[in-house]
Amino acid sequence: MLLAPSANRVYAGESTELAAAELTISAPFVAQVNPAQVAGVEYLSFESDELADEQLAVLARQSAALALFQREGELLRPVALPDCLNLSDDLVTIPKYPGKTNEQFTRLLLNVTVASIDTNLNPKAAQGPLAILDPLTGRGTTLMVAWMLGHHGYGVEGDAKSVEQMSAYLKTWLRRKRIKHTADMTPVRREGKSIGRRFDAKLVSEKLEMTVFTGDTRQSQYLYGKKKFDAIVTDAPYGIVHGAHQSSDVRGVAGKRDRSPAGLLGEALPIWASQLKAGGALGVSWNTYGLPREELAAMMVSNGLTPCEGPEWLRFGHRVDSSIHRDLMVAVKQEEKQ
Ligand SMILES: C[S@@+](CC[C@H](N)C(=O)[O-])C[C@H]1O[C@@H](n2cnc3c(N)ncnc32)[C@H](O)[C@@H]1O
Repeated sequence: MLLAPSANRVYAGESTELAAAELTISAPFVAQVNPAQVAGVEYLSFESDELADEQLAVLARQSAALALFQREGELLRPVALPDCLNLSDDLVTIPKYPGKTNEQFTRLLLNVTVASIDTNLNPKAAQGPLAILDPLTGRGTTLMVAWMLGHHGYGVEGDAKSVEQMSAYLKTWLRRKRIKHTADMTPVRREGKSIGRRFDAKLVSEKLEMTVFTGDTRQSQYLYGKKKFDAIVTDAPYGIVHGAHQSSDVRGVAGKRDRSPAGLLGEALPIWASQLKAGGALGVSWNTYGLPREELAAMMVSNGLTPCEGPEWLRFGHRVDSSIHRDLMVAVKQEEKQ
């Protein structure tokens, strides 16, 4: 597999390592995944039997896949990858704003999370489309990647402006591409009081939906009511400052001194866990400066979620900049709490 050159811009030289871990987890039908040099160019090599169409589709969905070849002695024979995207990827590459989660990394996080859903407990998940929640939506990179890969996207975001900007962008993009859709921002009222706004959009022919509520992520269950999700995929605030505001990017811990991502995750995880279907998977990326892996794993366990384990899960840590070392963790809800 030849990797997209853009992957290296995201992971500063570690892209092959991350792509290898993603492939190992999300494509159990391949073996011996290793970096390989051919004529000075780096590839990811692996072994497999003859690939069925669904397996080729899994390879095409890899976040960094550019092209596939079959090795024949010294030669590489091209293998066509199917077009697996519902919508063209400029949907997620055009927006550029401070605090955006890189779209390629978002796709990787979504892929490894979805691959971890326990389909014995949630058999419907094998057929898709899945209901994916990003309870820290920002301007919706996860929800747009979910749409591209054929899933429904749901979100909650504390910054109402971000939701409006996402709504404006998505409407313009869909209109410009002449894709039949509906999209609206409407007020949300509970018990006679206005508590925020919601964005709802639908793709008419793909029958995919998207909803984002403005509000605190700890209100997510209150906002969504009984609705349960197949997977939660989210990039936690990094505990750093974006732009000119001299405060953390953790929102709404009103009256509390703890504005750390760890504090927010500690309060949000019980809510998020309750919104997962049995067998559902929660994938989170976070800044390990300030929250060690073991602590996050312990938080997952105390909320009834079992972190995925094995050497491949320890290969995702990478530097984003001098104040952010990002890692990811996926944990699975084994059963519904009684
Ligand atoms: C790392 S950013 C996610 C960016 C998003 N993936 C994107 O690409 O646009 C984290 C987001 O969490 C939001 N946030 C932080 N604390 C929150 C809270 N308590 N409730 C809801 N949203 C919150 C921030 O406003 C920010 O948009």
